[in-house]
Amino acid sequence: MAAGTADFVVIANRLPVDRVTAPDGETLWRKSPGGLVTALEPVMRSNGGAWIGWHGASDEKLKPFDHDGLQLVPVHLTEQEVAEYYEGFSNATLWPLYHDVVVAPEFHREWWDSYVKVNRRFAEKAAKVARKNAVVWVQDYQLQLVPRMLRELRPDLRIGFFLHIPFPPTELFQQLPWRKEILEGLLGADLVGFQMPGAAQNFVRLVRQRVGHKTHRDLVYLPDGRTVMARAYPISIDAAGFEELARTPHVLARAAEIRESLGNPTTVILGIDRLDYTKGLRQRLRAFGELIAEGSLHVDDAVFVQVATPSRERVQQYKILRDDINRLVGRINGDVGRIGHQPIQYLHASYPREEMAALYRAADVMVVTPLRDGMNLVAKEYVACRYDNRGSLVLSEFAGAASELKSAYQVNPHDINGLKASLLEAVQSGPRTSAKRMKAMRKQVMENDIERWAGNFLRELNEGPGAHAMTLRPSAP
Ligand code: G6P
Repeated sequence: MAAGTADFVVIANRLPVDRVTAPDGETLWRKSPGGLVTALEPVMRSNGGAWIGWHGASDEKLKPFDHDGLQLVPVHLTEQEVAEYYEGFSNATLWPLYHDVVVAPEFHREWWDSYVKVNRRFAEKAAKVARKNAVVWVQDYQLQLVPRMLRELRPDLRIGFFLHIPFPPTELFQQLPWRKEILEGLLGADLVGFQMPGAAQNFVRLVRQRVGHKTHRDLVYLPDGRTVMARAYPISIDAAGFEELARTPHVLARAAEIRESLGNPTTVILGIDRLDYTKGLRQRLRAFGELIAEGSLHVDDAVFVQVATPSRERVQQYKILRDDINRLVGRINGDVGRIGHQPIQYLHASYPREEMAALYRAADVMVVTPLRDGMNLVAKEYVACRYDNRGSLVLSEFAGAASELKSAYQVNPHDINGLKASLLEAVQSGPRTSAKRMKAMRKQVMENDIERWAGNFLRELNEGPGAHAMTLRPSAP
């Protein structure tokens, strides 16, 4: 296949831009707030980089276009593919399966067929766009077959893969009727990256058991002589960018305004999540409701602000969750609220980065209680915004971030009494205790930002076993 012009190609389910309509009716693309594009932008610019991804609409074919100096290559999905590849196999099979089967995964053969077909479309696009010997970085669970498909088309490429979500324990992964195909798909990469060391180990063990390849520690030896490396690279955020934003007068003024409009309570507790059943929203709301009901917290003093960003709204389990949370919030506010004092302020909406930073600044306690989470970047964002060393973080031990943020109040979200005790401890902690904890967490987050994460992955991809001459140019200063 003829090679293209990009020396560095990122492949992700989504493009790093959102379509917005300007007041004059014109359609514009705006860079999405995620940290990944921020981290990769410099490398992309120095290497004529291209980003291949879906633009978020169905039945619409768009030509490649430039945005702010980045080459974006849209992949189209039909309405049926959105239902079967994206909502179905990616988000109703793989997502729950990889998150400890928090809800039951559904296995449908048509969904799998669609996943294969769409993965091939992404691989074919990349094969056209990448120059000879280019570096290609495939992202996340939606595209696990791409590494192998791409290698078959373009054996000259250096291919990396990173899984942003957990990789499940071997016992759960075995449920997947297409387990061997997924493992073989990933083995098309030279380097397979995970959030946690345990995930990398699970993967290597499964490859040995299910595919029968020889393995040693983090290496898999393939019969064709190739070696694949599987390692952990805990992802992070644009920490300095968040801190800078949190220091702007505009954000500080907005934080004060938020507290004011909440009635200037003694304690503002905050949760910010995609509305997802993995996030442990029920558990944290129940814990807070009980603390108010039994009088440990007082409705005049404490407010819980929960932002739940709409997500995957046509998937059944997400619809069920939305109704459940609406009911639960209504019940708690109805039971323990008073005129002018709704203890839970529930916002089903998505906000720009500035508003998130203001919320982080306004919150005395941040509550992050997923039942399972690959990393959880909200926890790190909160820490990055607290340059004043104030504020406390309550963090689930089942989030990847727990292994780095050891000074958080760590909780098992299934244990409601334990959660209540930790929440209360965080609320009541004195300034010295919380400053000590926050300082330790800030050291970790500010030093290990997303730039370092991307740099580590790309360096090890370039230098790993079987690497040919390094092709990636470092980003311009
Ligand atoms: C998680 C996944 C991402 C995904 C994001 C938003 O963070 O790891 O791959 O893009 O959720 O979900 P959505 O389905 O809207 O892309």
